Amino acid sequence: MKITVINGTEKHGVTYRLKEIFLERFRDDADITEYYLPKDCPGFCSGCTNCFRNSQDLCKDAEYVRKIERSLLEADLLVFTSPAYVYHATGAMKAMLDHFGYRWMPHRPAKEMFGKRAVIITQCLGGGGKSTAKDIKDSLSWWGISCIRIVSFRLMSEIDWNKIGDKRKEEFKKKLNSVAEKISAVDFAKPAHTGIVVKAKFYAVRMLQKQLGKQDPEYTDFKYWNANGWLGRVRPWKEN
Ligand SMILES: Cc1cc2nc3c(=O)[nH]c(=O)nc-3n(C[C@H](O)[C@H](O)[C@H](O)COP(=O)(O)O)c2cc1C
Repeated sequence: MKITVINGTEKHGVTYRLKEIFLERFRDDADITEYYLPKDCPGFCSGCTNCFRNSQDLCKDAEYVRKIERSLLEADLLVFTSPAYVYHATGAMKAMLDHFGYRWMPHRPAKEMFGKRAVIITQCLGGGGKSTAKDIKDSLSWWGISCIRIVSFRLMSEIDWNKIGDKRKEEFKKKLNSVAEKISAVDFAKPAHTGIVVKAKFYAVRMLQKQLGKQDPEYTDFKYWNANGWLGRVRPWKEN
């Protein structure tokens, strides 16, 4: 089993410890690849729109994006982590997700994403953990992933891991171990079910692509949808 982890911070703080607890269950059997942001994707999207209009290979940050994308596509389980920074995912996480705008459903989603499973781990001091998870979930859902689990914590009094009490740490462990246990029981040979929300997005965009193709048969996204057979009978998910 392959796991790809995208860490929204390089700091070995609370977010890091929570992710480590979650991964404990998988350490012996899984092949785990981790990325730390911003180190592993340091550039901001400059808004050149080359990825949308022409090719993702023309992005100034293509070297970083390509590497992360290959890991995401190869993995059975995707793990994203972020502390809440002013109620949202870290700027580093947002900057990385911006580079995958071209993989959103209205553009060129990767068919490999449709059967994947993902876990989002967030934490905050008092508020914003849920909206932080939503920032990440929005992208994953628009990439075509239906099976997304969110594990979010509120620290409440202390943000320094060494000062957080043992009782509180036990609560974190219990919750993370329970999610890890459920995920490890999944049969990863079978793709995750594609739900109604993702299918609705797909069919709405399918209509749009048909119209766009009539206006301009050379339109990059239309050609991609057409080449995949999605404007005909082919679907990016497997019925199970
Ligand atoms: C710039 C910044 C903004 C933050 N914004 C929030 C916030 O909006 N809500 C909140 O509850 N905690 C906030 N925090 C606390 C973090 O969510 C987190 O609990 C803390 O940074 C410890 O996590 P870490 O050790 O993984 O960095 C913020 C921290 C930083 C550094």
